[in-house]
Amino acid sequence: MGEALNGLKRTIMCGELREEHVDKTITVMGWVQRKRNLGGLLFIDLRDRTGILQVVFGEEINNDAFIKADSIKPEYCIAVTGNIVKRESVNENMPTGMVELKAESVKILSESETPPIYIKEDLDAAESIRLKYRYLDLRRPDMQSIFHIRHKAAKAIRDFLDKEGFLEVETPMLTKSTPEGARDYLVPSRNYPGMFYALPQSPQLFKQLLMVSGFDRYFQIVKCFRDEDLRANRQPEFTQVDLEMSFVEAEDVMTINERLVSYVFNEVLGVEVKTPFKRLPYKEAMEKYGSDKPDLRFGMEINDISSVVEGIDFKVFKDALDNGGSVRTICVKGGASMGRKDIDRLGEFVKTYKAKGLAWIALKEEEIKSPIAKFLKEDEMNGIIKTVGAEVGDLVLIVADKNSVVFQSLGALRLELAKKLELLKDNKEFNFLWVTEFPLVEYNEEEDRYQAAHHPFTCPMDEDIPYLESEPGRVRAKAYDMVLNGEELGGGSIRIHDSKLQEKMFNVLGFTSESAWERFGFLLEAFKFGPPPHGGLAFGFDRMVMFLSGTDNIKDVIAFPKNQNAFCPMTEAPNVVDTKQLQELGISVREKEDN
Ligand code: AMO
Ligand code: AMP
Repeated sequence: MGEALNGLKRTIMCGELREEHVDKTITVMGWVQRKRNLGGLLFIDLRDRTGILQVVFGEEINNDAFIKADSIKPEYCIAVTGNIVKRESVNENMPTGMVELKAESVKILSESETPPIYIKEDLDAAESIRLKYRYLDLRRPDMQSIFHIRHKAAKAIRDFLDKEGFLEVETPMLTKSTPEGARDYLVPSRNYPGMFYALPQSPQLFKQLLMVSGFDRYFQIVKCFRDEDLRANRQPEFTQVDLEMSFVEAEDVMTINERLVSYVFNEVLGVEVKTPFKRLPYKEAMEKYGSDKPDLRFGMEINDISSVVEGIDFKVFKDALDNGGSVRTICVKGGASMGRKDIDRLGEFVKTYKAKGLAWIALKEEEIKSPIAKFLKEDEMNGIIKTVGAEVGDLVLIVADKNSVVFQSLGALRLELAKKLELLKDNKEFNFLWVTEFPLVEYNEEEDRYQAAHHPFTCPMDEDIPYLESEPGRVRAKAYDMVLNGEELGGGSIRIHDSKLQEKMFNVLGFTSESAWERFGFLLEAFKFGPPPHGGLAFGFDRMVMFLSGTDNIKDVIAFPKNQNAFCPMTEAPNVVDTKQLQELGISVREKEDN
């Protein structure tokens, strides 16, 4: 069906043709975007990776070619040879719009059925169809431009880190469970029936071992696997820019990484990212923004009014304070004009974050409106207004609860209001910051024990080490997250390299010496042989590319992603395997139980 090239060579790409090529004989190869037959003249828009070129076939130019071209349909793959001529009607919207190709001959390299999705920009076909025919989806110019950006970003990262003396070293994909805390993807072993490899959630322990080996500076652009609930910015397999450095402290790691992202954003987008980035301790981030990855492109900070409302006779506030919680607010500038229904909707919104309700004070021109006015004396009302700095026209929103609920609900409400009030519309800013001084451990209420907030090798801050055993909850870690516009772009820490401190840490986390050795013995063993002080970080590379290409869907930046249920509609993975394969692995699959 398809003609062979038979020695025919492409001489130039479609998108490269300009006026300077007029009168040249060229050969281009690509796909048919569309065809128009105007009787006697026939136009084909030919597309390759670089762009679109108008090709004209005519009875008068070459009748054989014209007749053949008439049989061509969209998405046929063809090669055309002819002369470049100036176009009579210039198309300003196309980079090649000054010229067209007068076709002398055409080869139909392969035919195409009518594609199930239309190959053009801003396509709104169902995601299931786009993923099933991903190779066609990827023919779209806007998808191709994302992968161009992804390539440029990866190259910029390699160039930068190479100059800074980092070595790219690969680490195993078939390995032992790593301590990142999500569920592992497991791979059964044939040699050891009943035993499993785990796919790495990150190269964490291997990169630390490379520091013990004296590699000094390591990096890798590497696939990681986590079996977790998927969201708009999470995939089961994703890519990290993972790095580790010896003989460094937190500031060194942060400095080089802000230089790295600023280099990448400049190389790929030409934007200047100012360094150093703002550093915000975790506690302040939570208190001001209710989030450990705050979006600082707008204000609307949270205020604590606990001390102002301490004495008031409103059970909701009283109970929260008596139980060690707090009463906090955000002030919406100009929000007093919001309708009752809208405010009620915000009340419903915070309930999804476990808040029991949302109190409010609307400072209207003529009066102050509030469902809690009846509980407040005048000076208490004035105290609240003063503390939050509210003015006439503003709306004060209040949540009283235990701190975790107050932060979560007001933090989410802050973002919701920014969306609703379009505070970030047309905002092109890249607002980077570091969140630092994270808690070392967090309390797991279900299991009644402390667990590592990051991983068990994260080093506590020197001044907090005395509290490690007595009050683990107040110990801060030498950990840092890079945050961009309210998303966690990357995170890392300085690691523990002292075995005594590591032992203490395991104690706090409730590991016995045996259980720690069982899981991480190879690392503990290695640390007997002169480990250097070290620390590092990993970026979510897909997330970085999302920002660089301006998409908010992680699937757009991964060539062959999984859907929201971790399924690939194209290959239909995961799927059943041969009984023989299972037998070799010593695995039998239980019948699905009906329930
Ligand atoms: P962490 O677990 O924070 O750190 O991961 C680093 C970065 O990887 C990105 N990321 C993801 N991206 C897409 N899909 C996912 N499912 C996903 N999970 C994480 C995030 C995150 O900031 N070993 C440590 C790093 C270190 O300490 O050096 C680690 O993996 O952008
Ligand atoms: P009530 O007297 O129960 O009608 O409550 C008065 C106001 O307090 C209503 O606007 C409720 O939404 C609000 N409210 C209830 N629980 C809370 C809470 N935990 N924090 C803040 N406001 C609340």
